[in-house]
Amino acid sequence: MVDWIKEQSGGDKRIQSELRAAGGLPAHIAFIMDGNGRWAQEQGKARVAGHREGIESVRDIVKAASQLGLKNVTLYAFSMENWRRPQAEVNVLMDLLSRYLRSEKKELHANNVRLRAIGKLNALPKKVQRQLFESIETMKDNTGLTLTLALSYSGRWDIVRAIQTIALDVRRGKVSPEDITEESVSSYLLTNSLPEPDLMIRTSGEMRLSNFLLWESAYAEIYITDKFWPEFRRNELYEALRDYQNRERRFGKTSQQIADESRDQSFVQRLLGSIKIP
Ligand code: IPE
Ligand code: IPE
Ligand code: MG
Repeated sequence: MVDWIKEQSGGDKRIQSELRAAGGLPAHIAFIMDGNGRWAQEQGKARVAGHREGIESVRDIVKAASQLGLKNVTLYAFSMENWRRPQAEVNVLMDLLSRYLRSEKKELHANNVRLRAIGKLNALPKKVQRQLFESIETMKDNTGLTLTLALSYSGRWDIVRAIQTIALDVRRGKVSPEDITEESVSSYLLTNSLPEPDLMIRTSGEMRLSNFLLWESAYAEIYITDKFWPEFRRNELYEALRDYQNRERRFGKTSQQIADESRDQSFVQRLLGSIKIP
C-alpha cells in the first residue's frame, strides 16, 4: 500500500516544511471544487471528462494536505442544488463517487485519514450510501487528516435542520430559549465536530458561496482562483496557503490591536521558553 510520506519527493518535502515553518497553517480548509465542466469544454471534451479529471485533483489535494499535516479538509462535492442537473450528469457524478470510494478506501485508511460526510445523505443512491457508511466506519478511529465530503449538502438546509431540532428540544424541556447561544447553535449543525473553516478556497473564478457552510464560514478567509478544479493541484494549494499566511485576521479588531496581541504572545512564549524546569 502506498505510504504517502515515503513516496513524497525531496523538493515537495522542502516546500511543505517551509510552509510549516512560516506558521499559522489553517486548522480547516474548505474547498468549493468548481469548474470541471468548463475545463472539459476548453479541451473540447464532454463535461464528464472534467469530473473525471477533477478526481485526480481530489487525490492530489488530499494527499498533499495529509503530508503537510493539516487536520481538516472539507470538499464540496455535490450540492443539494446539483440534483437539478440533467439526470445523466447526476448519474455520472454518483457513479464517480462510488468508484472513488471503492478505489481510494484502502489507501486513505492506510494513511490514517478519517473520512466523514455531511449533507442529506439519505438522498444519495443506496449503493453509494452503503459504501460511504462502510468507509466512514472503517476509518472512524484514524487520527490523521479528517476528510469531510459535503454530499447533497446545503448550508441553509443544515441550519433549518438545526433549528427544527432546537425547537423540538425546547418543546421537550431539554433547552430553554434564553439558553440558545452561538455555540449551542453550532453544536446542532452537522459540522459540530469540526473547527470552523479558516480558509475557503473556490476554483474557477466564481465569487460566491453557493450555499456552502454558511454559518461556519462567518470569519473564513476566502481565496478564489481562476484555475478550474481539474487544474488545481498541490502547487496551487501551496500558493493559496502562502496567500493565507500573509493575511491579517482581525475578527473585528484593529490592526494595531492584532500587532500588540502578537507581540505580547511572543513575549510570553519567550518567557516560557526561558523557564528551565529542573
Ligand atoms: C464542479 O464543476 C463539480 C460539481 C459541482 C459537482 P461543475 O460541474 O460545476 O463545472 P462548471 O462550473 O459547470 O464548469
Ligand atoms: C458549487 O458548484 C457546488 C459544488 C462545488 C459541489 P456549482 O457549480 O453547483 O455552483 P453554482 O451553481 O455555479 O453557484
Ligand atoms: Mg460549477
